[in-house]
Amino acid sequence: MLVTIEGIDGSGKSTLHKALGPYLADLDPVITCEPGSTWIGEAVRRAIREHSDPIAEALLFVADHAAHLREVIKPALGEDRLVISDRYIDSRLVYQQVTLDGFIPDPLSWLRAVHHGWTILPDLTILLAVPVSVALERTGKRKKGEHFEQEPVLIKVHENYMQLVEEDKTRFLILDGTLPPEHILKVAGETIRFRYDELKKKKKK
Ligand code: ADP
Ligand code: TYD
Repeated sequence: MLVTIEGIDGSGKSTLHKALGPYLADLDPVITCEPGSTWIGEAVRRAIREHSDPIAEALLFVADHAAHLREVIKPALGEDRLVISDRYIDSRLVYQQVTLDGFIPDPLSWLRAVHHGWTILPDLTILLAVPVSVALERTGKRKKGEHFEQEPVLIKVHENYMQLVEEDKTRFLILDGTLPPEHILKVAGETIRFRYDELKKKKKK
C-alpha cells in the first residue's frame, strides 16, 4: 500500500513522517521521500537553489519521481510492503502549477500528461492543512529561504491542494496540522494501520 504525506512547507510533514516509522514499526514500513531518494535529488536541490528555469526545474522533479518509482516504490510494492512517502505526485501538481504559470499554457494538464501511463497513484494521501501564516512562522525559524516558501506561492499551493481534494475526496485524509504532533501521529498512524489491514484482508479473499 502506498501512503503519501502532503502539505505546504512548514505544515509538519517531516515531523509526522519521521514519527510514523517507529509508530508503525510492527508493519515494517518503507519510509521514503521526494525529492531526494536517489542521486537525481541532488540535481533537484541545485535547481531549487539556483532558481533558474521553471520548466527545467519541473522536469527534474519528474525525473526524481521516475527514479524513485523504479528504485524504491515499485520494488517495495512488489513485495506487498507498506510504503510511506513524504511528498509525491501531488506536490508537483500543486507547486509546479504555480511555478509554470506563464511558461506553459495549462500547467495542470501538462503536469498530468507528463505523469500519465507510468506513475502509480497513492492509495491514501494525508494532507496536513495549516494556515499559511502558521507555516511561514514555522519555516521562518529554520530560514531555508527557498523560492517556494514565499507567502503568495504558498497561498496558491494551498488552494491547489484543496482543488485536488475536491476532485478526489476518497484518496485524501485532511488533518489539522495545528493540532499537537502526538495527536496527528495517532490519527494518521491508526488510519494507515486500519487501511493496510483492510487491504490485506481483501487480498486474502
Ligand atoms: P514540513 O516538513 O512540512 O516542512 P516540518 O515537519 O519540518 O514541516 O515542521 C516545521 C516546523 O514546525 C518544525 O520546527 C517542527 O518542529 C514544527 N512542527 C511540526 N509539526 C508541528 C505541530 N503539529 N505543532 C507545532 N509545531 C509543529
Ligand atoms: P521538501 O524537501 O519536502 O521541503 P519541505 O520539508 O520544506 O516541505 O521539498 C523541497 C521543496 O520542493 C518544497 O518547497 C516543495 C518543493 N517541491 C516541488 O515544488 N515539487 C515537487 O514535486 C516536490 C516533491 C517538492
